[in-house]
Amino acid sequence: MRVILHSGVIAGLVLSLAWAAPSGTDGHEGHDHGNHAADHHHHLHHGDDEPHPQHKGQYNALSEPNTEFAFALYKKLSATPEFQSKNIVFSPLSISMALSLLALGAKGETFSQLYQALGYAEMTPETVNKAYEHILHMLDHNQDIHVDISNGIAVMEGAKLIDKFLKDAKHYFESEVFSVDFNKPDVAVQEINKYIAEHTNNTITDMVKEIDPETVMMLINCVYFKGKWEKKFESKTAKEDFHVDENTKVAVDMMHSEDLYEMYEDKENFTTVLRLPYEGNASMIIVLPDEGKMKEVEDSICRHHLKHWAEAMKEGCVHVEMPKYNISGEFSLKDTLEAMGVSSAFSDTADFSGMTDMKVKVSKVEHEAILKVNEKGTEASAVTIAGVVLTSLPLHPPKIVKINRPFYAFIVDYNTSSVLFMAKISNPTA
Ligand SMILES: *[C@@H]1O[C@H](CO)[C@@H](O)[C@H](O)[C@H]1NC(C)=O
Ligand SMILES: *[C@@H]1O[C@H](CO)[C@@H](O)[C@H](O)[C@H]1NC(C)=O
Ligand SMILES: *[C@@H]1O[C@H](CO)[C@@H](O)[C@H](O)[C@H]1NC(C)=O
Ligand SMILES: *[C@@H]1O[C@H](CO)[C@@H](O)[C@H](O)[C@H]1NC(C)=O
Ligand SMILES: *[C@@H]1O[C@H](CO)[C@@H](O)[C@H](O)[C@H]1NC(C)=O
Repeated sequence: MRVILHSGVIAGLVLSLAWAAPSGTDGHEGHDHGNHAADHHHHLHHGDDEPHPQHKGQYNALSEPNTEFAFALYKKLSATPEFQSKNIVFSPLSISMALSLLALGAKGETFSQLYQALGYAEMTPETVNKAYEHILHMLDHNQDIHVDISNGIAVMEGAKLIDKFLKDAKHYFESEVFSVDFNKPDVAVQEINKYIAEHTNNTITDMVKEIDPETVMMLINCVYFKGKWEKKFESKTAKEDFHVDENTKVAVDMMHSEDLYEMYEDKENFTTVLRLPYEGNASMIIVLPDEGKMKEVEDSICRHHLKHWAEAMKEGCVHVEMPKYNISGEFSLKDTLEAMGVSSAFSDTADFSGMTDMKVKVSKVEHEAILKVNEKGTEASAVTIAGVVLTSLPLHPPKIVKINRPFYAFIVDYNTSSVLFMAKISNPTA
């Protein structure tokens, strides 16, 4: 009765540092350039990770702040007109990590605003950096689940970075430093995109379209995830209606599975929550608002709900109907981050003296993510037998969770208590 489904997700985040005011060399003031160039591209994504209450690993230090940041960012994004009733997908962990790497070279107000926005105000850089070191280490050593996180630092040929920054970036963030000739924008675009493609298994291949002329450095964080469902979906996928809203329905490929799953019906908060485990220690958490209640859930959803639901879920026989989907999104995060208090990093007074002696600021922060859920995939055949077979039939008829209206999906890694990806799927066919 089981078939395979695999879900793969990818995200990339690019930060580019542009000259703010070149330190007195040619009097060319680059401040406005950075801002304008960033505005050309409105790609944006954000995300952060979520702690899982039951597990108290040492790296849990970041679970709460990262999850809080993920929701804060999500709320800001979903409130922008551009994303009304649209699909949203991003990797919270990718964004938190990239900004933390940036903070490694920041000082003064630039630093404190980043830490404040990330929720690390009460923590020392040492605690934060060590936590990332641990997350990266844990994710490197998983067998069943494929999670690849990489931090690349592309530096202008000849540019000097502070030794301590390079050392810490390598030590805590496993950063790979490579030089790029940003004076040749076409070549630089190609090289950066190649790095991204290599670290996302070729799922994101042309994220960078152009390079601001004053760019001296780019921080690149890539997260690649590939997981196989522990409980396979059946082969009877068929076209069914998905209700985007009261007046709009689209035909989707609806997958089916009937098995033991953890779920929770939170009537008071108008939601059904379902855990779809992957092989290994990660799950997709589906949050399905009751019919007509998306607005209420959207307004109230937060870290505490996720935590409450994780604790309240109980195993039972569930008949799951979930659409296959393949969604992507790209955003510019600059405005959102500024709205969250990170302004110094983007301004001419930015202080990245921990990173370089040059006067630099951040010109843009962009995020792109892809989320594909289906029942095929190269690894599917390897897991066909792994499905958990029901040994006893439940006394109650199975609960039905029919995901035929907008829902949320969170990919959570329990070993590191991280929300790897967060998505709102308003229209699986978009
Ligand atoms: C969690 O850790 C275990 C044991 O180290 C490993 O087998 C598993 O693949 C890990 N899962 C994830 C998602 O990292
Ligand atoms: C990368 O993608 C290819 C083609 O889709 C797939 O065969 C391979 O398993 C993927 N690699 C990893 C590490 O998931
Ligand atoms: C609704 O959500 C709140 C906040 O997370 C929680 O305290 C409450 O228990 C939830 N209601 C139910 C019935 O679970
Ligand atoms: C997913 O969608 C992208 C474009 O949005 C497309 O390039 C890609 O081939 C699709 N992948 C699958 C597996 O359908
Ligand atoms: C899953 O993660 C939890 C928390 O880190 C850990 O206690 C448990 O052993 C892990 N399970 C596996 C199978 O790795």
